[in-house]
Amino acid sequence: MAAVAAIAALALSACGRSDSSSSASGGTSGFAQNSLIGVALPQKTSENWVLAEGLFNDGLKNAGFKADVEFANGGVSDQQNQISSMVTKGAKVIVVGAIDGSQLGTQLKQAKDAGATVIAYDRLVKNTDAVDYYVAYDNFKVGVLQGQALLDGMKAKKPTGPYNVELFAGSPDDANAKVFWDGAMSILQPKIDDGTLKVVSGQKSFDQAVTQGWKAENAQKRMDTLLAASYNSTTLDGVLSPNDTLARAIITSVKGAGKPVPVVTGQDSEVESVKSIMAGEQYSTINKDTRNLVSQAIDMVKKLQAGQKPDVNDDKSYNNGNKVVPAYLLPPVIVTKANAKDAYANDPTLSKLTQ
Ligand code: BGC
Repeated sequence: MAAVAAIAALALSACGRSDSSSSASGGTSGFAQNSLIGVALPQKTSENWVLAEGLFNDGLKNAGFKADVEFANGGVSDQQNQISSMVTKGAKVIVVGAIDGSQLGTQLKQAKDAGATVIAYDRLVKNTDAVDYYVAYDNFKVGVLQGQALLDGMKAKKPTGPYNVELFAGSPDDANAKVFWDGAMSILQPKIDDGTLKVVSGQKSFDQAVTQGWKAENAQKRMDTLLAASYNSTTLDGVLSPNDTLARAIITSVKGAGKPVPVVTGQDSEVESVKSIMAGEQYSTINKDTRNLVSQAIDMVKKLQAGQKPDVNDDKSYNNGNKVVPAYLLPPVIVTKANAKDAYANDPTLSKLTQ
């Protein structure tokens, strides 16, 4: 009996019909299984985006969809054009990793008007009603873990403060940058206030700490300037870096200035940073396995195809200025040399680096 029911269910899904009882759960009415799904990725500012491209192409095709996965290497207008073109081609779902979360309102409204569902991927889109779901690692938690790692790393080298630190943030057009910063500052600000941490440059605000375009060269230049201005005879104990690309740029700057490498945080588990951690240079990174995030996004697409409501586990944290966007958040994991072997045990690329 069970086998017969399973075959019947398969036959139903194979012809792309949605079960009408499931649309009563609040989902859409579903769409054909071989529909086009658009995925608009930003620029290749970190390894996670490059990994996502391949995973989306393979995962969507394996699930029976047609996939149009694009990078907007030419910037915001490129991404706007790509989304419009996905709408014109009839995409049923558009998954967006925005370059600038506040510049896509017109194109996403066009998508909604055409009946497509919009999923913000990794980065929230801001100030628009035209977004249905958000899927990401918990960005605030990422910042909290980075702030805590910075304190722990410095304490392990020198049991008591005060510690001299500098603070870096991501690109201000990326909606995540401020969330990472707020998470980190929830840990660091009380320590700045009580004198445990000293930001020697005095550059303590998000606006002073940002790194335009998440570009390594911008972080390296800023670090060069900070070192020359404030660290001639002062020891730099730690640097809050929001991701691995910038962490390595900061370390390059410090080494170039002939100074000892301070405790530097990161994010993304990029190959070069995991190597640096194992070599005892970069202190920490964050594991946000791209395979899990893409698979969660594809799971949302599958639910929508079947006329069901996608899973969400947070319907209050992500207010985009116009609405609270229902989100599915995955848990980030802090990684240092001490737990790298465990953290990457099921990652075929990274586990080779931790032997
Ligand atoms: C992502 C990070 C990444 C950064 C730069 C952020 O939105 O969440 O994982 O390091 O973009 O590409």
